[in-house]
Amino acid sequence: MDKKTFYITTPIYYPSGNPHLGHSYCTVAADVMARFKRLVGYDVMFLTGTDEHGQKIELNAAKENLPPKEYVDRLVAEFRRLWDIMDISNDRYIRTTDGYHVAAVQKIFRALYDKGEIYKGNYEGWYCTPCESFWTETQLVDGKCPDCGREVKLTKEEAYFFKLSKYSDRLLQLYDEHPEFLEPESRRNEMISFIKSGINDLCVSRTSFSWGVPVDFDEKHVVYVWLDALTNYITALGYGSDNNADFKRYWPADVHFVGKEIVRFHAIIWPAILMALDLPLPRKIYGHGWLLFGDGTKMSKSKGNVVDPQILCERYGVDAIKYFLMREIPFGADSVFTNEALINRINSDLANDLGNLLSRTTAMIEKYFGGKLPQPLESAVADNELIFMATSLREKYEHHMDRFQFSSALTEVWKLIARANKYIDETMPWALGRDAEKANRLACVLYNLCEVLRIVSILITPFMPNTAPIIAQQIGAREDVLTWETANKWGILPVDAEIKKGDPLFPRIDVEKELSELEKCTK
Ligand code: ME8
Repeated sequence: MDKKTFYITTPIYYPSGNPHLGHSYCTVAADVMARFKRLVGYDVMFLTGTDEHGQKIELNAAKENLPPKEYVDRLVAEFRRLWDIMDISNDRYIRTTDGYHVAAVQKIFRALYDKGEIYKGNYEGWYCTPCESFWTETQLVDGKCPDCGREVKLTKEEAYFFKLSKYSDRLLQLYDEHPEFLEPESRRNEMISFIKSGINDLCVSRTSFSWGVPVDFDEKHVVYVWLDALTNYITALGYGSDNNADFKRYWPADVHFVGKEIVRFHAIIWPAILMALDLPLPRKIYGHGWLLFGDGTKMSKSKGNVVDPQILCERYGVDAIKYFLMREIPFGADSVFTNEALINRINSDLANDLGNLLSRTTAMIEKYFGGKLPQPLESAVADNELIFMATSLREKYEHHMDRFQFSSALTEVWKLIARANKYIDETMPWALGRDAEKANRLACVLYNLCEVLRIVSILITPFMPNTAPIIAQQIGAREDVLTWETANKWGILPVDAEIKKGDPLFPRIDVEKELSELEKCTK
């Protein structure tokens, strides 16, 4: 039987500066989800990429005296390098300057024009170049862009329009019939009131600059960058080309992860374009929150308060950064990023809770039994609570993961880790070790701890793909006992597995010293 498919995307980022921790945040979340679905057994397509056209890029390139393509090539290489460093498991990477995408956008634009969904008119309004957004006079806030508060430019030109307004009712019906289409719920209510306040037709071509996909039947126009960008989710699968097998296989997308500031484009314009093309709609748009910097402002290139993810990965390891991003910030909510919170979490959750559980368990097995447990194992009623918690964890974890509640999923895993550490204090293996007659009981206690570590290592795999195999190796677990199917079973690890203590998983960090070092890096 064919595997069930799962198609997940990140926004395609503007290569208008180096990638920062905000970009990593969404990409890591999508990576975690893709790895989770693969673990469960899905046929996954995970797409990310870069949105390379538009006036902002053209202007930035001009400032550096570079042709736009050369300018984006350099920055795109930075994005791709960061995803390599961060072990991002995307199956495909789309660049909107790729020839196949450009050709497909032209085809889509023409098809919409031929169907009467796009018409020619005149555009007069305000344009925010950094956001690549059009605004009417009444939408401006104090004469500035309502999204980012920056200057807008009065623009008047001949342009093509997409008949967005005619989709108002169908969009409201979509929200009514499929409340799950847009999450979290607060974002949905915003969109519904936005639509109800009246939406205009959308200007989808520009003549005032040239760095874009040319409208092939009217070459002085380039396609509006958001129309060009949104269609990446289908062109990457071959839509609009001769080879559309992946489109047939993976579309509609299961979820588009996007930051909350671009929900409007994905939850109004994108479904309307798909309706106009008579294509199925994505199953879900998830609008995640922002990483805020110390002073509460959004982390972004233009505000200069960027934290370099590469520096953080080099200092603490990729898995620690991924863990922090997913554990600290409930997906959907905003959260302030601080170096101090990062270091504290590494120390408490990773070095102490997880690291100590592993090192204490493996050290005791080496000390008392030379790395191999004796049999038979002598169980006791006192084990039941731990075993129950461990075997029922997978179901809770899956529930949260399927709702993109990564932080809650990890919290559940860490509850088991805490329980296992408490189990060590309760069973006092060091006392059992002093009594030769208690060897089989001691073996059972240590085996139970290994089983907890086995289940933990399976369930943290999507988040910490480098750490999980280290744990598995130290407890002697081979692949067949590391599957999703075995994550809710007990007594799976062979009792005679070879156990070997290794280096500390996450060395403890000296907070004060590290904070001052980090300050030097971020200046
Ligand atoms: O909007 N916190 O690209 P972009 C959390 N090209 N996430 C953040 C973040 C922060 N401080 N800063 C950025 C664009 N992000 C368009 C998208 S899609 C068809 C076109 C993440 O480079 C977040 O996911 O401005 C946000 O939506 C995305 O980067 C915006 O990236």
